[in-house]
Amino acid sequence: MTTTIDPVSKICCIGAGYVGGPTMAMIAHKCPHIDVKVVDINADRIAQWNSDRLPIYEPGLDEIVHSSRGKNLTFTTEIDQAIRAADMVFISVNTPTKTFGVGAGRAANLEFVEKCARRIAEVSEGHKIVVEKSTLPVRTAEAVKRILSNTANNATFDVLSNPEFLAEGTAIEDLLEPDRVLIGGERPESIEALVDIYANWVPRARLLTTNLWSSELSKLTANAFLAQRVSSINAISALCEATGADVDEVAAAIGTDSRIGPKFLKASVGFGGSCFQKDILNLVYLCEYFGLPEVAAYWEQVVRMNDHQKQRFVTRMVRTMFNTVSDKKIGIWGFAFKKDTNDTRESASIYVCRDLLLEKARLCIYDPQVSEHQILNDLEYVFTEGDNKISEAKRELIEQHVTFASSAQEASSDAHAIAILTEWDEFADADFDAIYSTMKKPAFVFDGRNRLKDLGLKAKGFEYHGIGF
Ligand code: UDX
Ligand code: UDX
Repeated sequence: MTTTIDPVSKICCIGAGYVGGPTMAMIAHKCPHIDVKVVDINADRIAQWNSDRLPIYEPGLDEIVHSSRGKNLTFTTEIDQAIRAADMVFISVNTPTKTFGVGAGRAANLEFVEKCARRIAEVSEGHKIVVEKSTLPVRTAEAVKRILSNTANNATFDVLSNPEFLAEGTAIEDLLEPDRVLIGGERPESIEALVDIYANWVPRARLLTTNLWSSELSKLTANAFLAQRVSSINAISALCEATGADVDEVAAAIGTDSRIGPKFLKASVGFGGSCFQKDILNLVYLCEYFGLPEVAAYWEQVVRMNDHQKQRFVTRMVRTMFNTVSDKKIGIWGFAFKKDTNDTRESASIYVCRDLLLEKARLCIYDPQVSEHQILNDLEYVFTEGDNKISEAKRELIEQHVTFASSAQEASSDAHAIAILTEWDEFADADFDAIYSTMKKPAFVFDGRNRLKDLGLKAKGFEYHGIGF
């Protein structure tokens, strides 16, 4: 290939989601000399990015967006124009687990990535660098490259893999000071073009370059290892409950071993989020595809353990509350999959609420950032059956058993129990004396995050149960 690569001055990112939006906002903020256009097929989402209320709740994001929006950061639905004008195109669309056909329930659905590649091939002219930002199975770049080799206008492309490691709730910190930025590719000049962008604020020693396949696989592996740590400590939490050990003490004790380290050892009601389960299932699928069933079974266990943890939480609630929660009011504190985000994808809350509803409990739900509309959507979706439809009986179950509150205290009024499912900081500041006085007795608290563990709730009269002690 003879094309020379000029420094990048125009970027287009397809997909204005939890990854594309904050990442591009940070690039625009740190690189005022680069024009950044974020495009999306969802016009409502683009309108929200252009409004005062961004579609994503993420501490620090508003400031970063406001610093560049209207200058070198644009959110638009004019996809073709933005692709055509750009030197570098990021693909940051969603890659959900397939729900149909070959690999259903495991493989990633690459329909959207493929559509993006085809669109880029169709409208591009000259030379462009295409960057895979979405988490993809190993060797997806091969498919993207083949699609891009059939272009309408003799355009040429280099493909890079640049997986995102930001965690929701800390996205801005993670983008500002990443542990590392991973860039996989084949042609040194195009790798360097992306390195030069990040080098505007990330020390060069943290910019790791690899071949394409290592980069793709590293993202899946990082998420699998992180999720495995959570499932491992959650497995130990069950043993702690059976033996009288305290999982937080065990975590602190093992975390001081520098080989293990203290992070990602917080026992919980189960991990959620758009990535962990999806990426592990994807890994499992890849292992099976490449004829490695034992490796596949090993990783699949991480997801099974997580499902078990969510079920165990509900079983413990039901057993403790005299083997029935039918017609009992339960205050649900938190619906997001972790604090400081409005994202509910794969949140443990969805599954805990589903199982409590199947036990006919009455749920009063409060989350400081998640809308009622989103919660109802999630609950309806979790009850859909094979044909993707919800039965009338299940719809009635939700309608008759789910209400919403505008504060944690209101959700707990007259309740038999509280279930803490997200570790929002504000929950620790609640007026527990006032809450206790309005609850049915015994006033049960089931803390799926051990957030209230040190607040002396037992001394205030509550019957307090956490995870792993
Ligand atoms: C996505 C992937 O899910 C994840 O695997 C990857 O690591 C990063 O990108 P996220 O940003 O959280 O994560 O997804 P989401 O918030 O769903 O945003 C994706 C956006 O792409 C949506 O706004 C959707 O409308 C848009 N999209 C999807 C397109 O613009 N075009 C498409 O063809 C498909
Ligand atoms: C994760 C990865 O951390 C990130 O690098 C990748 O880019 C996307 O996937 P995210 O899902 O946003 O990020 O959040 P994360 O902080 O990893 O938490 C995932 C889930 O694990 C949450 O439900 C969280 O509550 C849970 N968790 C995390 C625990 O239960 N215990 C822990 O010790 C840590």
